[in-house]
Amino acid sequence: SPIEDLPKNIVLVGLMGCGKTTVGRKLQGLLGYPMIDTDHLIEEKARLSISEIFARRGETAFRELESAVLNELSAPGTPRRIIATGGGIVGRKANRKLLSRLGYVVWLQAPVDVILQRTGRNRDRPLLQTENPREKIEKLLVERSPLYHEIADLELETSGLETEEIACGILESA
Ligand code: S3P
Repeated sequence: SPIEDLPKNIVLVGLMGCGKTTVGRKLQGLLGYPMIDTDHLIEEKARLSISEIFARRGETAFRELESAVLNELSAPGTPRRIIATGGGIVGRKANRKLLSRLGYVVWLQAPVDVILQRTGRNRDRPLLQTENPREKIEKLLVERSPLYHEIADLELETSGLETEEIACGILESA
């Protein structure tokens, strides 16, 4: 079947709260190969949570860890995976280069209201610990959209779609 023949990793990029983890899990169920999450690998490497890394070591240290994890994922000969990434991973040019080589890059998009709702109710996101998270998300969207666009093989507006539909849309295009 086309699903078994999928030749590449699938790399999910996009802002916080755009659905990378949820869609990644669904793809994992459909494809039967594992999903990994760069934030999770960073937490394992640092033995600290994302918010602890930001608080104790600062964002620059976090970005160093993020680049290191991405480098490790890019080692040749690794099995196929679904790779969910942190929203800011596209900030560095070297990262964008690695990401576009790593597999089929999907930029998941969601309206700011949806992102606000999702990020407000779960997981800690140090970048949104600010007086005006909406403004912050809008700013990140403006800054990062060209960077996501630069590496995306597929750009998917997810609003109004079920997780299953999003995952199947990715598999049909990949
Ligand atoms: C960040 C997004 C987070 C995490 C960190 C920084 C960002 O990942 O890497 O809090 O810069 O947008 P998610 O996109 O998985 O929330």
